[in-house]
Parts: sequence; structure tokens; C-alpha cells
Amino acid sequence: MAFYSVFLEAIPAYTGLSPVAFFTTLALMVGVYHLVCALFVSDPPPPNATSRSAMEMMSMPVNLEPVQLGDVTEEELRAYDGSDPTKPLLMAIKGQIYDVTRSRMFYGPGGHYALFAGRDASRALALMSFDPKDLTGDIEGLSPSELETLQDWEYKFMEKYVTVGQIVEKKEKREGDVNGKESENSSTENLNGGDVEVKR
Ligand code: HEM
Repeated sequence: MAFYSVFLEAIPAYTGLSPVAFFTTLALMVGVYHLVCALFVSDPPPPNATSRSAMEMMSMPVNLEPVQLGDVTEEELRAYDGSDPTKPLLMAIKGQIYDVTRSRMFYGPGGHYALFAGRDASRALALMSFDPKDLTGDIEGLSPSELETLQDWEYKFMEKYVTVGQIVEKKEKREGDVNGKESENSSTENLNGGDVEVKR
């Protein structure tokens, strides 16, 4: 009881409010707090929802192992530019195709070097150029120092990434293809999402 009367006397001493005004203000503040929480703060997700999405992510078919593709035309390589998240990210230098999937932050959609994905970027790298016209494997007319720059890039890629194939001329022009059609064992079918021909 003594504590209660000391408490009631302390309220006006510390707040300048009568006990009735103090408790009314306190009740109003608690009410406003709950109202704001109800309006703007969403409930946390139920625990099983969180674990379900984690499970879904874990069961996603993510293939981190580079897959050998063998011969690929520049046109076919385009399919590996990161627009299809189920396909690896590939990039070529001097006709050699590298799996750069592990550097998705560079070459994936929105990455600084996304323009190189699905391309032979030899000319762009030699010239240190982001110009779309230089996104080609054509290295004709490059100066010795530009070729040296390209060589440095090639060494870097050979060290860092796995080679998964090589760029070939259009398959119509390949030996044994007399009708101008793609040969039966061309890898087009494989590249479009099916089984992949393993050459090594
Ligand atoms: C202001 C100019 C530039 C800056 C500050 C810059 C900076 C960087 C940095 C910090 C990295 C990451 C290096 C690493 O962690 O391994 C990188 C990677 C890279 N840069 Fe640049 N860069 C510039 C210009 C260019 C240009 C002009 C090109 C080619 C046209 C280029 C091509 C690349 C490539 C291909 C990679 C990724 C290499 C890999 O896969 O490991 N960069 N750059």
C-alpha cells in the first residue's frame, strides 16, 4: 500500500501529469502502438512456410558440374547467355567455349559482363570494348598488343574455367553434309535442352 501511494505521488513529480491523465495517456499510446502494428507490420510467415521454400530451393535442379558440349556454332552458343536459368552460362575466347556459370554475378542477366555471355567475345576482349559490334570471334586486323591482351584473357579463362566445347562454322558447311541440311548427329537437339553429347 505504501508503495502504491509513493508511486501515485511520483507520477506528478516526474511527469507533471495527474495520475488519471498519466494512465489515460499511457493507455492511448499503447492503443496507437497496436493500431500502427496491425496496419503496417505483417505477421511473420509460419515456420513451415519458411522451411518449405528452403526445401523447394534445395530440390531445384541446379547442375554445377560443367557439361561437355563439343562442337557448337556461334548461333547455338547464344542460347547459353543466361536468359534460361536451367542452362549453363557459356562464353568463348578464340573459339574455345568456357563454362562461366560459377561467375553468374559477372555474366548472368544484369551482370557487368552479361553482354559476353553466349558469345565469342575475342574481339571485344582484345580491344577492351563493350561495343556490340565487337562481340565476335573475328580477330582479323588486330594489332600485336591487342592480340597480346586477348592472349592474357585466354590464359585467365583457361586457368579459371572449364572448357566445354569449341565454336565451329555453320553445320551446313561441314564435311559429309551434301544436302545443305544439318547432319543427324549434329548437337542442335542436345543444345535445345535435351541430352547433351559428352565428348570427353
Ligand atoms: C573502368 C574499367 C573497368 C573496371 C574498373 C573493371 C573492373 C573489374 C573487376 C573489379 C573485375 C573483377 C575481377 C575479379 O574479381 O576477378 C573485373 C572482371 C572482368 N572484367 Fe573488368 N573492369 C573494367 C573494364 C573492363 C573492360 C573494358 C572489359 C572488356 C571489354 C572488362 C572485362 C572483364 C571481364 C571479362 C571480367 C571477368 C573475368 C572473370 O571471369 O574472372 N572489364 N573487372
